[in-house]
Amino acid sequence: MQRDFQERVRAAAASARSHGADSPKVGLILGSGLSDLVDHLLPAETRRLAIPYGEIDGFGATSVAGHRGTLYVTPDVAVMAGRSHFYEGKPIDDVVLPAATLCALGIKTLIVTNAAGGINPDFRAGDLVLIRDHINLMGTNPLIGPKDPGSVARFPDMTEAYSAALRATALGLDAELKEGVYVALTGPTYETPAEIRMLGAIGGDLVGMSTVPEVIVARSYGVEVLGISTVTNLAAGMSGKTLDHSEVVEVGRSIQGRMTALVSGLLDRLIV
Ligand code: HPA
Repeated sequence: MQRDFQERVRAAAASARSHGADSPKVGLILGSGLSDLVDHLLPAETRRLAIPYGEIDGFGATSVAGHRGTLYVTPDVAVMAGRSHFYEGKPIDDVVLPAATLCALGIKTLIVTNAAGGINPDFRAGDLVLIRDHINLMGTNPLIGPKDPGSVARFPDMTEAYSAALRATALGLDAELKEGVYVALTGPTYETPAEIRMLGAIGGDLVGMSTVPEVIVARSYGVEVLGISTVTNLAAGMSGKTLDHSEVVEVGRSIQGRMTALVSGLLDRLIV
């Protein structure tokens, strides 16, 4: 986190406000293949604003297929349809700036979604998995650098990075949800089978290339987090198949109905 990060977040929040964002209570980040969810959660006839990332200072466009690159806002919810990834070559500050901006707009809860490879042998492609905890193997941490004045501590506690209460609420809405530990690597290569065996041995159930930086920043601002992974594929070496991003996006899309029901149930409970 560079010295100017706080200033950049403030400018991005002011820019989002000038486009109509007000004080959302909940932030939602939609990962690979999940951008279309927004059209079910906030159909065009609802009071929603669509702001392309290019129009918000510092957000930057996303270059990845399956990521729309639009912020949708209603009076209560801010939805990021698409995110930036470290593997795109952006500085980590740029990767987390949109999530930090939602926090600066005043959200109390952040729901993060992503596509992930399943390491746990009980997981199947198409499963929805609540993230119980994570292992950060990205080789960086967005809080490295001067302490952000908006952050609750120099050394934020990560004991309950993913809220147990929110996970219980989610399970109450969808009893078929599985739970697991998400391991974040930089990508952009998928893992080797040997790496997947290692990640399983250290306690990983899911593997992906996102989410953890955003969650670290949200927790540093004291925002509660719920993480939901779509298992888009079995991780490398577990199915005998090779991995392909179009499959990841496709499975992400196929799970939309169930994910929509879950997230809209959560929003109903969080916006009171
Ligand atoms: N590995 C890393 N990231 C991913 C995967 C995977 O198998 N599937 C979806 N995102």
